[in-house]
Amino acid sequence: MVWVGNVEIKGDVTLSPMAGISDSPYRRITRRYGSAFSYTEFVSTEQILLGNQKSIDMFRFQEIERPISFQIFGSDLNTVVEAAKRIEPLRPDIIDLNMGCSVSKVSHHGSGAGLLRNLPLAGKMIEGMRKSLSVPVTAKIRLGWDEENLNYRESVHILQESGVSAISVHGRTKSMAYTGKADWESIGDIKSFAKVPIFGNGDVSSFYEAKEKIRKYGVDLVLIGRKAIGNPWIFSEQDKSSVSFSEIRKVVIEHLLAMLDFYPSEDDYGLVLFRKHFAKYMEGTGFPKDLKSQMLQTSSLNTFLQLFSNYEETQTNTKLETVELNDSLNCETYLVDV
Ligand SMILES: Cc1cc2nc3c(=O)[nH]c(=O)nc-3n(C[C@H](O)[C@H](O)[C@H](O)COP(=O)(O)O)c2cc1C
Repeated sequence: MVWVGNVEIKGDVTLSPMAGISDSPYRRITRRYGSAFSYTEFVSTEQILLGNQKSIDMFRFQEIERPISFQIFGSDLNTVVEAAKRIEPLRPDIIDLNMGCSVSKVSHHGSGAGLLRNLPLAGKMIEGMRKSLSVPVTAKIRLGWDEENLNYRESVHILQESGVSAISVHGRTKSMAYTGKADWESIGDIKSFAKVPIFGNGDVSSFYEAKEKIRKYGVDLVLIGRKAIGNPWIFSEQDKSSVSFSEIRKVVIEHLLAMLDFYPSEDDYGLVLFRKHFAKYMEGTGFPKDLKSQMLQTSSLNTFLQLFSNYEETQTNTKLETVELNDSLNCETYLVDV
């Protein structure tokens, strides 16, 4: 359990914010499987102020997702503070400033990890939001811009002085993007002097490993990103390899339907957005490659579901044969597995 300002977070492993992944449908599923709180995808403060409905829609959520942190990015002080004020009535529990996005389009314009090169501005943004909002303000950083500029100590001090309530740390520099290995020793170093809760992040591939990081480096919570795509079970101590195909199938259908509902359109746009999730759900399940690529190429919901259910039938038949041939399997095994 950890407190972010006056917000209580029960649990210590959470889905990391990911553009195109951590939307409301997936946040609901991961929360149900044990992710400790919800972090939205990052949203542009410029677009919020322009009233871009698509951007503002990214903050839609359901109560089950609480506590929920709205993540924003921007490079202009006034824009960031005004946008945060604009979204506060949508009732987030926390507002988080992205200081870690490494994509050039974002960081080379001074937003995201670009703020690591202008810490006084980042500090003013946090202070400005804190003074204008009644919800706690947090930030998500990287260790620095590059190896020669590892300024995480300064970042943490400035953010703390500016009134931040917690800091998430991805243990890489901006120039590493996603290469190399996350440096957990530096995350541990931050935890050793920080006065606010520290959420560690980078390369965690299981619930067990998250708990190990907490034990070893003392962080208050661990964020899991890539390894949680197509794998909400990671938040429930369950290894995906032990999850039956029938349960994976149930979650796939639930997730797809939730996306179709969340992104209503005439051309099954929710299905197109679901593809990347589907590819990850199928990883490690032995799902036939050619069938997967057929399913990933179709834009027709009917075709997608038909192909999936055909595969389910072949699975069912296989299982039935196994049941008939193998005396040690009983009806219960059959019911659980299929
Ligand atoms: C597809 C994708 C989208 C991401 N989008 C965001 C984002 O919107 N905001 C953010 O703070 N980090 C974002 N990240 C970074 C992750 O939150 C996380 O810091 C990073 O992936 C390292 O954690 P991992 O090794 O567990 O994946 C994104 C990462 C990926 C792979």
